[in-house]
Amino acid sequence: LKRKKISVIGAGFTGATAAFLAAQKELGDVVLVDIPEAENPTKGKALDMWEAAPVQGFDSYVKGTSNYEDTANSDVVIITAGVARKPGMSRDDLVQINQKVMKSVSSQIAKYSPNSTIIVLTNPVDAMTYTVYKETGFPKNRVIGQSGVLDTARFCAFVAEELNISVKDIRGFVLGGHGDTMVPLTRYSYAGGIPLEKLIAPERLEEIVQRTRVGGGEIVNLLGNGSAYYAPAAAIIEMAEAIIKDQKRVLPSIAYLEGEYGYDGIYLGVPTLLGADGVEKIFELDLTENEKAALDVSAQAVRDVMTVLE
Ligand code: APR
Repeated sequence: LKRKKISVIGAGFTGATAAFLAAQKELGDVVLVDIPEAENPTKGKALDMWEAAPVQGFDSYVKGTSNYEDTANSDVVIITAGVARKPGMSRDDLVQINQKVMKSVSSQIAKYSPNSTIIVLTNPVDAMTYTVYKETGFPKNRVIGQSGVLDTARFCAFVAEELNISVKDIRGFVLGGHGDTMVPLTRYSYAGGIPLEKLIAPERLEEIVQRTRVGGGEIVNLLGNGSAYYAPAAAIIEMAEAIIKDQKRVLPSIAYLEGEYGYDGIYLGVPTLLGADGVEKIFELDLTENEKAALDVSAQAVRDVMTVLE
């Protein structure tokens, strides 16, 4: 069996962390890419990771580069390139700068890895995923955005802490855009199969939901000069693993909607089946009136950002 190849575009905090996780999990050989001005630090980070291989015993080679030829024939490409938030900024403040980055990165991926599946992390992620979809011309199932895995992880972490129950037993469920307008479906959230609504009082559950919504901002404020990267990197690698190993995981993805949930022509977070063909299925659930109204707000927020796209 030929070894898989994962390219990570953007060798900053998130990209480097994701690359190291991919190598440690032996998802395949890893190529870490950044702009020519950052070639040396990128090579240095990759070499540093590769030098951990003998200690940790992983057989993934890690290469740092600014040359897209090195990414040729990647199975999965992860995009974390662009600028991150600083305190006081919203994800949407990043749209114009990061859209330019998405355009240049997309053309290189389409040229060198036309059969790859792309997972986008760069914010504002719903609109950036749409940009990559348009610019690459790839089929919709092979251009995916990450937000729900991270939002769910944050929710589950807070719930595990609240109940003093292992994170392994907590399951959350989030729909919609990333962060502030996300729609957590607490009625689909469990601890060891027990609905959370039976374990946590409604007001307290709502507080946890609210903390989850602004979870990215909480980290931005604590870090002081950048945005979260450990949990985002872990989230994107869970999606990459599902695709590379054809695991058929049910995970929330930012997927292109053509009528699902009543929306057309936008990328939005929905429950998906992730396997070798990327988004192999979108699960449509019946929503209550309140949930649908919240999802409408989320979809509108994504559309508002999309109107700024050039
Ligand atoms: N091609 C490749 N890399 C690029 C490009 C480009 N055109 N433009 C910028 N980069 C690189 C930067 O040089 C930098 O190394 O992207 C990297 C971004 O890294 P950080 O600044 O550390 O940002 P990070 O915290 O990793 O966040 C990256 O992910 O979660 C999102 O909102 C976050 O949009 C942000 C992205």
